[in-house]
Amino acid sequence: MKALVLSGGKGTRLRPLTHTMAKQLVPVACKPILGYVMDHISEAGIKDVGVIISPETGEEVKRYIGSGRKWGIKVKYILQSEPLGLAHAVKTAEDFLGEDDFVMYLGDNLLSYGIKAARERFERERPDALIYLKEVENPRQFGVAELRRDGSIKRLIEKPSKPPSNLALVGVYIFTKRIHEAIARIKPSQRGELEITDAIQMLIDMGYPVMSEILEGWWLDTGKKDDLLQANTIVLDEYIGRALKGQVDKESEVVGRVDIDRGARILRSRIRGPVKIGKNAVIENSFIGPYTSIGEGVMIKDSVIEHSVILDGSEIRGIERLEDSLIGRGASVIKNRDRHKAYRLMIGDDTVVEV
Ligand code: DAU
Repeated sequence: MKALVLSGGKGTRLRPLTHTMAKQLVPVACKPILGYVMDHISEAGIKDVGVIISPETGEEVKRYIGSGRKWGIKVKYILQSEPLGLAHAVKTAEDFLGEDDFVMYLGDNLLSYGIKAARERFERERPDALIYLKEVENPRQFGVAELRRDGSIKRLIEKPSKPPSNLALVGVYIFTKRIHEAIARIKPSQRGELEITDAIQMLIDMGYPVMSEILEGWWLDTGKKDDLLQANTIVLDEYIGRALKGQVDKESEVVGRVDIDRGARILRSRIRGPVKIGKNAVIENSFIGPYTSIGEGVMIKDSVIEHSVILDGSEIRGIERLEDSLIGRGASVIKNRDRHKAYRLMIGDDTVVEV
């Protein structure tokens, strides 16, 4: 079995972060989402991995995954020159996939447990497609499945305005070579994309067996700010243990599950976990509260921060309370102490600031 990881696309919903970075590389608990995807593929024993990249963010994705040796896999990069849909990405990868079965994993999806059990079920029962479903509150934003009483799939629809159920398609699918026949028969959707959801519906219409399973664990599509903060909370809760590799001075207090990476320094501060602090970050005279991830080289001084994600190289100074926030790379949030009270802002495109 091969794997196809989709790491192209536009990332419009996570702007402004994705003006300058691939959305699959946005970190959750200081590790790019794509890193969790690669872990799962490698744990499932899959060695041959195709990675779909776009002209805009492909180089950055390549820099992160490299040859794949870190995960014990062999990687082939496949350039999709335009984001014309998930099924279009499969078409673009046809030479790489050949006649093999493959798991398709969307590079911006996070799953609580990996895909080993899915692979085993697929190989045991041999359908032409195995898909995963999960109940969501906002089915309009996903592919949606309508099931029959016996649990078999009646219909699949991409982003319906009137969803027939709240069962969304999760971004992990396993296919046989028959999916290529189905893709050859579908037309672009209203949003102008070749939808994998339509291709799976086509498999059903062609009479090929398609199986579904309701996913037990959590699943997160990290499309927007709040999704990303929620992903950060869950991942910190599940994966972070106590590890103090950095330096904590005598006047600081570190409580609970806090992971402080090499070279980081905690000075006259209180950290209450779960918290992850990246390499070479400096926290001075501050309080860092639960569910916060601080990236590499971040500088925090005289501030209180909770339930937030601060990306690499940023600086936060003199901020009394920062909550539920997502701060991009190299950004500065600084209290000015002038008598003349004014906000002085230089913010990127598509940014939201609540003061
Ligand atoms: O997250 C699950 C959902 O993913 C499913 O419920 C939907 O049925 C499925 O269509 C998909 O919907 P999204 O609108 O969320 O897909 P998005 O455009 O965000 O793309 C998913 C991933 O695939 C993302 O990492 C970017 C990549 N991609 C996307 C397109 C359209 C490509 O590599 N090439 C593409 O052409």
